[in-house]
Amino acid sequence: MPSPNQPKAIIKMDARLVRLKEFLVNAVSTEMQNQSIVHPQNREAVRRSLIDAYQRTKADLETKVRDQVVDSALADLIGYGPLEALLPDPEISEIMVNGPKQIFVERNGELLETDVKFENEEHLLRIIDRIVSPLGRRVDADNPTADARLPDGSRVNVIIPPVAVDGPHITIRKFLQTKITMDDLVSMGELTIYMAKFLEACVVTRLNILVTGNTSSGKTTVLNALSGFIPDKERIVTIEDAVELKLKQRHVVRLETKLPNVDGSGAVSVRDLVRNALRMRPDRIVVGEVRGGEAMDMLQAMNTGHTGSLTTLHANIPRDAISRLETMAMMAGLDMPLLAIRKQIAASVNLIVHLARFSDGSRKMTHITELSGMEGEVVTLTDIFKFDQSGVTPEGKIIGQLRPTGMRPLFTPRLEASGFKLGGEIFGAGL
Ligand SMILES: Nc1ncnc2c1ncn2[C@@H]1O[C@H](COP(=O)(O)OP(=O)(O)OP(=O)(O)O)[C@@H](O)[C@H]1O
Ligand SMILES: [Mg+2]
Repeated sequence: MPSPNQPKAIIKMDARLVRLKEFLVNAVSTEMQNQSIVHPQNREAVRRSLIDAYQRTKADLETKVRDQVVDSALADLIGYGPLEALLPDPEISEIMVNGPKQIFVERNGELLETDVKFENEEHLLRIIDRIVSPLGRRVDADNPTADARLPDGSRVNVIIPPVAVDGPHITIRKFLQTKITMDDLVSMGELTIYMAKFLEACVVTRLNILVTGNTSSGKTTVLNALSGFIPDKERIVTIEDAVELKLKQRHVVRLETKLPNVDGSGAVSVRDLVRNALRMRPDRIVVGEVRGGEAMDMLQAMNTGHTGSLTTLHANIPRDAISRLETMAMMAGLDMPLLAIRKQIAASVNLIVHLARFSDGSRKMTHITELSGMEGEVVTLTDIFKFDQSGVTPEGKIIGQLRPTGMRPLFTPRLEASGFKLGGEIFGAGL
């Protein structure tokens, strides 16, 4: 299996070098370690301390090897240990640590095993502690899971034994500074410029849009790209579990949920924030992901003047999104009959943009689907654009395109009334 280039901080250290590194790490005072975390500019001071400690050992290593041992000690002390070699790599979008000896990365959509390793479980737990402790969290056998964030905004999940059977695991979704825009998606061939124009018209015309797909299919990315179409003069409130969206507009209020304090009190949920946002005179509410009772508040908001709301939810296919939304709305505990909830969904949500991650690692928009009302007790879904797979290259790459189905959305007159003249050819008229 191919592996990423070995960065300088990672060398295969034999047991003797590992012992030396541990010695150096222990020689740096706890006080200095703590200060370094708070003030990264003290990095040089820690490095000097490590070199002093090295000189006291009277070891006689080649300068290159010495520097590698010192760098590795430095990464353990004030960084994220062996992960330091992977975190700065802009091509890596995800890092998955499965116990101390197995680290996978996702690089350009492909899952690859790396040569990067922790020394042992204890070393890995130390780094986990470094990740979660600034957030006032601890993971131990009684609290074996935690969500955290790195200072750069990357999202981290940690899970350790006994619930993770084979050792401590870390999953990092890197926060990429450069977000994929709708223009990028067009140049990547995911959709045509006309389809992007259509989506722009839907956002500007304040349709309520759900972005759906499986985990890691690109929902947040597309939500971010769609939000880019919100006109600059509007007041946008974003609500997320961990801030991922990066909007270019000036008038944006960013809200983030809060975990409970150690005594279990003080949590602020997405639902709390949605309710609060409604009192903040929002023109738009953008919710990173609905996964609970807030679905009901969102539906009510969409129905009562806060049109143009955007959010994501997990679903395998667009139709799944409806039943998931129903289940989530029921979690709000309002005792509303299922059919009433379903009617509310049909009346509120206008469009589903569905994404999928394919076997070749690529992410694609597979459906742009209109919710066009109810037929009996069933919500009517009409695919306006659908991914058409025409084949697979010998290397396993999926070939295909998002294509019009020939159906024209029922809300077309609304788009036209807002000044978007979408010619019939967009929807494949005459095909
Ligand atoms: N169309 C795309 N082409 C290539 N890479 C993409 C595309 N869309 C998203 N990505 C990349 O895929 C990764 C996952 O994307 P994203 O966070 O948007 O997924 P998600 O569906 O929101 O995931 P989750 O379910 O974990 O919230 C990111 O690194 C992102 O940059
Ligand atoms: Mg997401």
